[in-house]
Amino acid sequence: MKIEESRILCQPKVVWIIISEWMDTLAIFMNAKVYMLFNKNNLISICCIKNFGKVKELGVVITTEKFRKRGYMAKLLKNVIKKYGRLYLICMPHLEHYYEKFGFKKTKSRPWPLQIRAGPYNFFAKIFGWDQIIYMKRK
Ligand SMILES: CC(C)(COP(=O)(O)OP(=O)(O)OC[C@H]1O[C@@H](n2cnc3c(N)ncnc32)[C@H](O)[C@@H]1OP(=O)(O)O)[C@@H](O)C(=O)NCCC(=O)NCCS
Repeated sequence: MKIEESRILCQPKVVWIIISEWMDTLAIFMNAKVYMLFNKNNLISICCIKNFGKVKELGVVITTEKFRKRGYMAKLLKNVIKKYGRLYLICMPHLEHYYEKFGFKKTKSRPWPLQIRAGPYNFFAKIFGWDQIIYMKRK
């Protein structure tokens, strides 16, 4: 198993995974740093770090479907987050428990790069009674 660092636009397969999983395409437009976990040269899990200056955001946290629930993402996240100090993320509430295992805590702080994306969604979520996106912070 190996972990490699790259930029999203250098990795067409990563671009495809992000689009096909309906994940945050801002990471593609920002050409964010991506970390990839491979097993025998198969790309299994990815995550990226969006750099907004003082605010750094963990995003595009994806394990390819048939390899989920085998600890691959845990391996990747443990390796990646130790390279960074404070990290933020936004996610749906059912993932709060998962990210807590890596030291993230739900926070009331709303850095603007996250707020401009989660805010409009949460506005409609409130009206229609959907689950609202939560903000989490590590360190
Ligand atoms: C969320 C996601 C990234 C997790 O990836 P993963 O590689 O399955 O993650 P892990 O294997 O580390 O952990 C997943 C669960 O499997 C459990 N697990 C880990 N290893 C296991 C094993 N060997 N056997 C059984 N279960 C195991 C973990 O405890 C965890 O359970 P929990 O959710 O109750 O905490 C993956 O489900 C995914 O890609 N989802 C779609 C995209 C998405 O929603 N991403 C989040 C965006 S914010």
